[in-house]
Amino acid sequence: MPVLDPALPPTRAERLKRATHETHERLDQRIMAQRIFDSRERFAAFLRVQHRLHQQIDTLYARAALQPLLPGLETRRRLPGITRDLTDLRAPLPSTVPSLPAALPVPAALGWLYVAEGAALGGAVIYKLAAPLGLDQAFGASHLAPPAGGIAAHWRSFTTALNAIVLPETDERQVEDGARAAFAAVGGFVTQEFP
Ligand code: HEM
Repeated sequence: MPVLDPALPPTRAERLKRATHETHERLDQRIMAQRIFDSRERFAAFLRVQHRLHQQIDTLYARAALQPLLPGLETRRRLPGITRDLTDLRAPLPSTVPSLPAALPVPAALGWLYVAEGAALGGAVIYKLAAPLGLDQAFGASHLAPPAGGIAAHWRSFTTALNAIVLPETDERQVEDGARAAFAAVGGFVTQEFP
């Protein structure tokens, strides 16, 4: 783990982590309280939470304005993998979730993508916990499998690019609002999938 120098100002990713830390903790606890590793059916409900989030953000991965800012963005798309995982489990797909507006400002889009990429980082833990259900890269948990090169490097390349984007100070609030909106959306999906 990199050692943070308290003398240096926090990076954008560090600020986002701080701003959403408690929300993440609550979400994490809510999801784990649903005993998603007790059965494939329960795990499928977690996959539907992911599916709903990725339906909402899927178009961001192809947005032209984001490509030069986040190199390789298109390769981070997860909707097809989550769909495959649900199909493996013969589990129903969730209902349709509308895409984010095409006019969503770039700073807000960055906040949403921070949350999606962070979920993939945490997904490495979920991947291991799903193994006793017989789920892995080849069946039912493909979208959580660590990418070539490892999840830590994958996360680092995202945060390095995210931190390097130059934005006016007034736009920083929009990045944070985007991340908060993404967590709020996921919270709503958890309520829908685990009523
Ligand atoms: C879809 C639901 C979830 C979302 C949207 C989400 C979001 C995030 C985000 C944004 C981060 C990055 C934090 C950073 O900036 O370092 C992260 C990291 C992480 N998440 Fe989650 N998460 C979710 C579910 C979970 C669950 C259920 C677990 C429980 C195992 C979990 C465990 C972790 C872990 C271990 C990390 C990395 C370590 C750290 O925070 O230092 N997450 N997640």
